[in-house]
Amino acid sequence: MSTTRNVAVIVGSPRKESLNRKVAQALIGIAPTNLKLTIIDIADLPHFSQDWEADPPQNVIDFRARIKPADAVLFVTPEYNRSVPGVLKNAIDIASRPYGEGVWLGKPGAIISASPGPTGGFGAAHHLRQVAAAVGLAILPQPEVYLGGVDKLIDDAGKLDERSEKFLGKFLAAFAQWIDRNAQT
Ligand SMILES: Cc1cc2nc3c(=O)[nH]c(=O)nc-3n(C[C@H](O)[C@H](O)[C@H](O)COP(=O)(O)O)c2cc1C
Repeated sequence: MSTTRNVAVIVGSPRKESLNRKVAQALIGIAPTNLKLTIIDIADLPHFSQDWEADPPQNVIDFRARIKPADAVLFVTPEYNRSVPGVLKNAIDIASRPYGEGVWLGKPGAIISASPGPTGGFGAAHHLRQVAAAVGLAILPQPEVYLGGVDKLIDDAGKLDERSEKFLGKFLAAFAQWIDRNAQT
């Protein structure tokens, strides 16, 4: 039996009825027993400012403190105008500072993008890969996950269809192996 890994799940949408949040919640239900997935909220974080980066508001301190001990990070995000939603980029920036004290550095990570549209948030996922590299996250190369037509893949009760559940189950198994290979502890 392998070590249990704590995965911080960051949802890129602040929307109450977010499809991406529903996907993240469904993943919690199908994750292998050695992956403990916890959604970390980012919606209430302030806009990042270098004015307070060394002496930040309490919710920023709390956010950094929740990411720091995580063994890995999983992003589940929509695409806004072919890129990452500002709220997600803001959260990444917040936890990347002060310079040299970023809490993302060296952690294994993975990206899922999802959209009701046909391209499944491909543009957001690839911009996010670029940002993740800048903050030192080691992002799982394969399988890539772009969930197009996601509104049809998940029902009102938050259950994924069988095909998606199978595919995302394989993704989570690959992610668990990736975490074991790249874990810091
Ligand atoms: C500002 C904005 C920009 C958007 N741009 C895109 C886009 O570039 N590509 C896309 O597939 N969907 C785009 N959408 C539609 C979102 O994919 C859709 O609203 C989705 O449900 C948002 O994710 P959520 O349900 O997790 O909140 C955009 C939505 C908003 C609000």
